[in-house]
Amino acid sequence: MDEAKQDISVLLTEKRVFTPKPEFVEQTNVKKWMDKFGIKDYDELLEKSKNLDWFWGEAAKELVEWYKPYDKVLDWNPPWVKWFPGAQYNIVHDALDKHVKTAKKDKIAYIFEGEPGDIKKWTYGELYTEVNKLANALKSFGIKKGDRVGIYLPMLVELPIAMLACAKIGAVHSVVFSGFSSTALSDRLIDCEAKVVITCDHFYRRGKKVALKKQADEAVTKAPTVKNVIVYKRTGDDVAWTEGRDHWWHEITKEQSAECETEVLDANDLLYILYTSGTTGKPKGILHSHGGYAVGTSLTLKWVFDLKDDDIWWCAADIGWVTGHSYIVYAPLILGTTSIIYEGAPAFPEAERWWSMIEKHKVSVLYTSPTAIRAHMRFGEEHTKKANLSSLRILGSVGEPINPEAWMWYHKHIGKENGPIMDTWWQTETGHFCISPLPITPLKPGSATKPFPGITAAVYNEQGEAVTNAGGNLVMLTPWPGMLRGLYKDEQRYKDVYWSRFKDTYLAGDVTRKDENGYFWIQGRSDDVLNVAGHRIGNSEVESALVSHPNVAEAAVIGKPHELKGESLAAFVVLNQGVEPSEELRKELRNHVGEEIGKIARPDEIGFVNDVPKTRSGKIMRRVIRAKAIGKEVGDTSTLANPEAVEEIGNAK
Ligand code: PRX
Repeated sequence: MDEAKQDISVLLTEKRVFTPKPEFVEQTNVKKWMDKFGIKDYDELLEKSKNLDWFWGEAAKELVEWYKPYDKVLDWNPPWVKWFPGAQYNIVHDALDKHVKTAKKDKIAYIFEGEPGDIKKWTYGELYTEVNKLANALKSFGIKKGDRVGIYLPMLVELPIAMLACAKIGAVHSVVFSGFSSTALSDRLIDCEAKVVITCDHFYRRGKKVALKKQADEAVTKAPTVKNVIVYKRTGDDVAWTEGRDHWWHEITKEQSAECETEVLDANDLLYILYTSGTTGKPKGILHSHGGYAVGTSLTLKWVFDLKDDDIWWCAADIGWVTGHSYIVYAPLILGTTSIIYEGAPAFPEAERWWSMIEKHKVSVLYTSPTAIRAHMRFGEEHTKKANLSSLRILGSVGEPINPEAWMWYHKHIGKENGPIMDTWWQTETGHFCISPLPITPLKPGSATKPFPGITAAVYNEQGEAVTNAGGNLVMLTPWPGMLRGLYKDEQRYKDVYWSRFKDTYLAGDVTRKDENGYFWIQGRSDDVLNVAGHRIGNSEVESALVSHPNVAEAAVIGKPHELKGESLAAFVVLNQGVEPSEELRKELRNHVGEEIGKIARPDEIGFVNDVPKTRSGKIMRRVIRAKAIGKEVGDTSTLANPEAVEEIGNAK
């Protein structure tokens, strides 16, 4: 049996249910809220929350402060949505400004731990001052409401500071993951026409220094709209300098005022652009705005992870992805939480790094990915025993389906069979959790359970009928507050990708099964988009990178089930005439993809072939390639223009 089949059969036979203890349920944030409205149980909560105006209106009342109240909760004109129209707002008011007027001013917002072990704690008051100074510096460069700012920073507190400084003055940030290459950065800077880039000199990763400024320099030379580069000094190592364009963060903020007025915006004004992979062409610039996003992210965090005032929250994602945007930066700050930010690699210098950090900082809630859990499983549970993990009370998972084995390991060795595991399904597009348990939900390992209250999801077959116990398309039937507001400068693509399959219905692009109890089992992407270590990678991007190499004529990239990473990348490459396959070339191509996109996208395997299977219209048949590559039944190949190419895949050199 191949791994893919095995996965599905395990899911189908998964019958374990973990029901939360009544005394645990009783003290949860969500239960207290239910009591306030006389709601008896989970089912009634899900039913009542179908009244979106009531539900999200109450959530807003509890979590955010408007400068001017909204006219109505929701304005839905598919596929366009406005949440809280009429309201004047800025998310930075809730993330920072409101806290510094209370005792929260002296509460720790972030505990930073660098990879070398340096620790720095930031209070809300300190964060507020730093944000204001940087916001004033941005203003001095002429940055104003609506301008785009590119941010290329690793896991340092300066990253949230830079994001908040933009939001404070109404500028739109576009963060690019620091593991991406200079080409990936320049594509995004060019697309969003960034005026400023914020980066750092170097940072620490796996004991080495990564020269980020150097990569930013390469990107900026190709992006003519960028006039200024702000450089945070992390390691102090030498960097090349372009006079007039480059500015040290500490120098430009030194003389700035510690106060900066927060720009009063419309609740639906843009907060950020975050690029994510699609099946074809360039990455999609996902748009998120201030008001609805603030309400959606903060309520989901407060309920799903049940955050209380004394919790220490560790979302171990990178801020360069949406998980970090929503759950390291905006939602925890709105709730006034203390969060961990860790600069380095998970198991560096030894496998127990994370576990000793949990003990040291008394982390009470940990949110990570199945990939990280599987990596730790492989290191062995003996490492988990080297630290005291008793501070943990709730665990979370995100990014890809968590296999029941990994779920059980996490539950047993990290949660010590004590805390529930919140398997949260969501996307860059959704902004916040959409299908997720609450701490009151009976859990089934491997299922993200049910839609969050106020969110309507279903599984549709190809005819658009809701189906139970069969694989289908995951769809959302009503809008939700953190919903994307479109794709940057590409209205048509927004309509085509998400809204054209079923009328007025959002297509998530995930194959899913809903069981007889209404639990959702997400099974993976339905398109060719790959999911490597919980990150979406467009097959087309990797293929384009390969084809940009002078020796490559054509390339097809597929995902293969992988024990640790979810999927591993396998590339089938057609070389230009006269070029001979070799081990050296294979290595060179892997490095080339690393340089073009980033290390995360380097194919694990590269096979050389004379041709790849295609339809008569010239479309590469990745499904056929994948089936052949993982030894599954290929099926009917009569529609292919070149059926003989299927055998090539099996015999790739
Ligand atoms: O396929 C789903 C998978 O990750 C995709 C979204 O990727 P991205 O926009 O990069 O955001 C990742 C973090 C929110 C989804 O379409 N995915 C995410 N969470 C889960 C998941 N698959 C299964 N279970 C999850 N909990």
